Amino acid sequence: MVYSMQTGWQVTTESGFLITPDPLTDLGMIDSGLDEEITETLESIAEDLPDLIISGYLHDVLDNLPAFDLSPVLGRDDRILERLHLLYTYFVNAYVHMGETTAHNIPAGIAIPTVWLSEQVNRPPMLSYADMVLNNWRRIQTDGDLSLENLDLLQTFTHHYDEQWFFLVHVAIEAQAGILLIALKEAHQAVEDDDVQQVLSCLRDIRQGLVEITKTFHRMPEHCDPDVYYQMVRQPLFGLNDVIFEGVERYQGQAQSFMGGSGAQSTIIPAVLAGLGVHHQASELTHYLSAIRSYMPKQHQDFVNCLTKDILRDYCKQHLHLQDAYNHCLRQVMTFRRAHFYYAKTYIFEKSTTPVGTGGTDFMHFLNILIQETQAHLL
Ligand code: HEM
Repeated sequence: MVYSMQTGWQVTTESGFLITPDPLTDLGMIDSGLDEEITETLESIAEDLPDLIISGYLHDVLDNLPAFDLSPVLGRDDRILERLHLLYTYFVNAYVHMGETTAHNIPAGIAIPTVWLSEQVNRPPMLSYADMVLNNWRRIQTDGDLSLENLDLLQTFTHHYDEQWFFLVHVAIEAQAGILLIALKEAHQAVEDDDVQQVLSCLRDIRQGLVEITKTFHRMPEHCDPDVYYQMVRQPLFGLNDVIFEGVERYQGQAQSFMGGSGAQSTIIPAVLAGLGVHHQASELTHYLSAIRSYMPKQHQDFVNCLTKDILRDYCKQHLHLQDAYNHCLRQVMTFRRAHFYYAKTYIFEKSTTPVGTGGTDFMHFLNILIQETQAHLL
């Protein structure tokens, strides 16, 4: 039976799309229903993951892992399923991408539990943004805020601080986006209530939120070096191409492919575009962006779907004194996307002779078109 997630992925002002309450940092901190031996085995492999990769013992250890029955966790705190999904999908991507050569078979001991977990959380059986960002952090001061200074990453593939920083910048951006996401929802409500002042106030919050996340994005180079990112951080994030999940009945021995983890799986920009009524022409990138919606937690997909009517944009068209505020939001989306374009260029494009993103697209051309099309929506 598929256990549907009731809590965990609701959107809040403080933490945006990040999981709430804060992620489990260790399965041992809660009564998970699993034998201690199982939880200790999984947590200790996860803790040693960077060393297992460096030493070359990774495959030996994962090849010998039994296919644990995880069903006792059903009906308990949803974060147990999420913690398990995080651990197993890190094992999957490490197994495929961090061995001596790229693997095309995943042993049953990780394949069977990972596919089962993926059915429970409704996401693919490999590492995606929800695992590596939304559920992968802790507060250093437990009663402190979610600023970069107070965040620590739970799971990594390497010992490079650059890897931690790369993901922590994403975590901080997700938390900061909370205010603008709630403002998007409230703006739509205010349009329905025909409350012009409230619409104006929401547009200001949306713009300010976009300013804040762009500022945080610009902190990326403080501790994440483009060369380290290009050579070390992104390697395990690539997709799975024609991989056999051994022992998984539903795949009947057929090789499976899944797209790689990327910031494109963040729901922030899709929510902003939907809320502001920005539509893009069909292209290779937009096709890919639609396909990866299913990699986002279901509640986040629903959040975007609730915003898809163009009522806010239409309302601003009708009210002249809202147009400036609406345009300020769009300009700030463009500023964010230009910053993003710059980082895609310096962290990937300039490092490669055949650049494709972890999502697999010829991204530079398409990212630029998205900026131009955002501009075309100015009122
Ligand atoms: C150094 C940091 C980053 C690099 C190198 C980077 C790279 C890329 C690349 C190559 C793509 C094209 C699709 C793909 O192949 O995955 C992409 C798309 C995208 N990324 Fe990033 N990214 C970075 C940080 C971020 C951050 C922090 C966010 C926001 C949380 C983000 C959000 C997006 C979005 C929304 C798209 C889809 C295009 C759009 O709607 O503008 N990225 N990124």
